[in-house]
This record gives sequence, structure tokens and C-alpha cells, in this order.
Amino acid sequence: MNTNMPAEAGVTHAPDVTIGVPYLRCIGCDADVTAPTEDFACPACGDRLEVAYRPSGAPDPDALKTLWHARKLSAAPTDLSGVWRFREALPILPAASAPVTLREGNTPIYPLARCARSAGVDALLAKHQGMNPTGSFKDTGMTTALTMARVKGFQWVGCASTGNTSASMAAYAAHAGMRALVLIPEGKIAWGKLSQSMDYAASTCQLKTDFDGCVRVLGEVIRRFPLYLLNSVNPYRLEGQKTTAYEMMEQLAWETPDHVIVPGGNLGNSSALGKGFREMLALGLIRKLPRLSIIQARGANPLVRSMKEFSGERIEPVRAETRATAIRIGNPASWKKAVAVLRETGGACEDVSEEEIAAAKAEIGADGVGCEPASAVTLAGLKNLVRSGFVKRGESVVLVLTGHCLKDPEYTMDFHRDAAAADRALRKPPVLLDADPASVIDLLHRMEM
Ligand code: F0G
Repeated sequence: MNTNMPAEAGVTHAPDVTIGVPYLRCIGCDADVTAPTEDFACPACGDRLEVAYRPSGAPDPDALKTLWHARKLSAAPTDLSGVWRFREALPILPAASAPVTLREGNTPIYPLARCARSAGVDALLAKHQGMNPTGSFKDTGMTTALTMARVKGFQWVGCASTGNTSASMAAYAAHAGMRALVLIPEGKIAWGKLSQSMDYAASTCQLKTDFDGCVRVLGEVIRRFPLYLLNSVNPYRLEGQKTTAYEMMEQLAWETPDHVIVPGGNLGNSSALGKGFREMLALGLIRKLPRLSIIQARGANPLVRSMKEFSGERIEPVRAETRATAIRIGNPASWKKAVAVLRETGGACEDVSEEEIAAAKAEIGADGVGCEPASAVTLAGLKNLVRSGFVKRGESVVLVLTGHCLKDPEYTMDFHRDAAAADRALRKPPVLLDADPASVIDLLHRMEM
């Protein structure tokens, strides 16, 4: 049985209720781009592209909400996807083409009680994108972009990655029967992610460079070999990722939170979420935008510097260094889109230290939720934003946790085993005991003290 069959039977939609007819628009010169370069730049001015829509009727926001909700009862694969369930906001596929889906999206929102106390807010929520099929938010954009690769007839897809994009791409390519080329920086990749790429049978190359170097090499490769680029410069990636904002709002009964906080690496995700919120406002699905704040690691903070030193008008690449390897990125592709989101929503852009990231990750873990290091910058950033008064105690805050805690177990082990470090109270190293009940009971008594 083909499990990727179209899911139009049962719960369906009339074409005139979509948000419009898609086209690629240059964010620099506003051109309508029909023939982008292989790396999705505008052939006229070289700037990034986004998927835009020419309105083809005015969708009724309440009807959309009802339709999206009703699809949760459907058994069709396209309805079971937390991305394609919102397909009226995502009308990018030619009629009769079926999405490649692993039932991505549908991720939970958890309360973080302990973290709320330590950050100094009354309540704190986490939208956990690590609960996607390959353990990161990348799946929500991979389903859309990889489906476009198949629609366009490509056999090969490829990406440069710090590990999560490659894990996701490898899985979706394998599921679609396509071939995948992964370029990752040697050494600076978490084992969970590298092992996924191998498990999902991708051709994996570790290059003797960093992420930014991998991007440069792949840029040359795609000019000489027919390979569809699945990095987040591919605007169809961001179209899928924007649905996380839709899903979040549906989960919150369409009441916009005061703040949404995301990690910033290549800046695709912040751009995508901002686009989602902007569209929902225009469609009348929500009444206001949240402040969308972006947090970077201090050793990989080109956007923070751009905002502080150049008011977001230009960016200077940095040599990136952080143990949060997912966001070890010095030359972010989507910085202009991210600056637009910061300006439009009035969000903050801050960086946090390695110590702050490590402590925040352990605190999210101690709430029973857990995440990978890059995701923990959100809590570390929130603490600083509360301290500076940007976030008020009674305001509603959603952290976007981007990756699962099993992605980088080495980081977690190192933290908990480092007995000499600060934050002793957060550290829970395994205790070595004799194999007798008395030793264990003795330990329990000591723990109770
Ligand atoms: N969090 C995680 C877990 C990530 O893997 C990434 C990016 C980010 C945050 C930053 O998101 O790039 O959209 O600003 N990972 C990429 C990769 C670059 O190759 O997996 P961004």
C-alpha cells in the first residue's frame, strides 16, 4: 500500500478557500521569480526568495479553524500530518501530487513549572518540536521541500548541516525512495544526529571545515550536479516550518501569547515562524502578533551583533564556536528575514553564555521535558529578558524547543559528571554503589535530608 496517497477523501477543501496562488518573490527587489538559481537566489539581485501568495478569494477564518480541527478525526496520512493539515495555508503542491510525510508536526505544548519559577514568570510553556519523527523541528519543513524535489523530478537531494537537517532529510529522502547527500562538519556534530544520517542510508560526507564551509562546498556541487538543495534557503522549507505557528495558535485556542522565544542559527526557523504569525494576522485567524525573540549562543552571535552594531542593516560573519553544535553558525543565510521579523514583532535579540545554556538545559530536563543544548538557549535568554524587564512576570511566554534531548547525550553526560563545576544542585551524576539493598537505602535516606 502506498502510504503517501493524497488524503482528499473524507475531509477536503474547495480550492477557493486557500490563502492564494503561490509564487516565488524576491525579498530584496520584490521580483516575481520564475527561474531561481540552484541555491534559490534571485537571478536579478541575488537576494533570498520567499513563497508569496496572490489572493484568490477571502478564506473565512472560522471555517478554516473548523476544517483544520475536523481533520484531526481523519485517518488519511495527509490529515495526520501536523503540517499538511493546514494545507489551505500551504497550497504549494500541484493538484494530484501527494506529500511525502512521516506524520510530522502534532507536537505537544508542555507547561514548565520549575523553569517558570527559576525564570521569574508566573507560567511558562514549551512547544516541543523535538517530538517530531526525527527528533527536531526540521521535519516540518522537510516534508514540504522534499515533496517539491519529488514534484520537480529530482533523484538526488542534498544539504549542508549541523546535524538535524541532515537527519531529517535522510529520513524523508529514504521514505520517498530518493537519494540523499549530506555534508557535515567533521567532529562538531552530535552522535545522535550523525547516526541518524547513516541509519536512514544517506551518503554522508564529513568535511574538514565548519558548517559555513560545508555550505560553500555544496553551493559549488549543485552548480555541477543535478541535486535539489534542501538547506533553509529553499523557501519551501520555511513554508512547512511556518505551520508550527499555526499549530501553536490552534493549541492555545487562537489567543496569541505575549512572547515566543526561539533559538537562532541559520535563522530559517525564526523567519518561518514570523511569516506564519504575519499570515495568520492577515487572514484574521489571530488578533495580534506575539513578540518573537531570537536567542543565539555568545560564540555564534552574528545576528545579535548585527542588531547592536548595524541596527540590522548588514551582517558580519563570525567564526562560530559553541558546544550547542546545532547553532554553531557564523554566516546565517536568512538574517534579513529574521531582522524583518524582529522589527515587525518588536522582539528582542540576545546572546547567552555556554554556562547559561548548560544550566538551562539541565533545568528543562529537571521539568521532565528535556531538549538538546541549542533549544535551551531559549530558557537562558528568557531569564535575561525577565531580568532586563523586557518580559514581565505575568506575561505569557512560549519557548520553542527545537530538538530532542537524545540528540546529544554526550553533552548531557559531560554536564552531569563534571563534579567540579558550578550549578552543583542541577547535577545528577550516577552514583556507584555496592550491589546490596542497604547501600541503596542508605543513599535514599541521605537524599531525603
Ligand atoms: N535548534 C536546533 C536543534 C537546530 O538544529 C537548529 C539548526 C537551530 C535550533 C537553529 O535554527 O538554523 O533555523 O535558525 N540546525 C541546522 C541544521 C542549521 O543543519 O540542522 P535555524
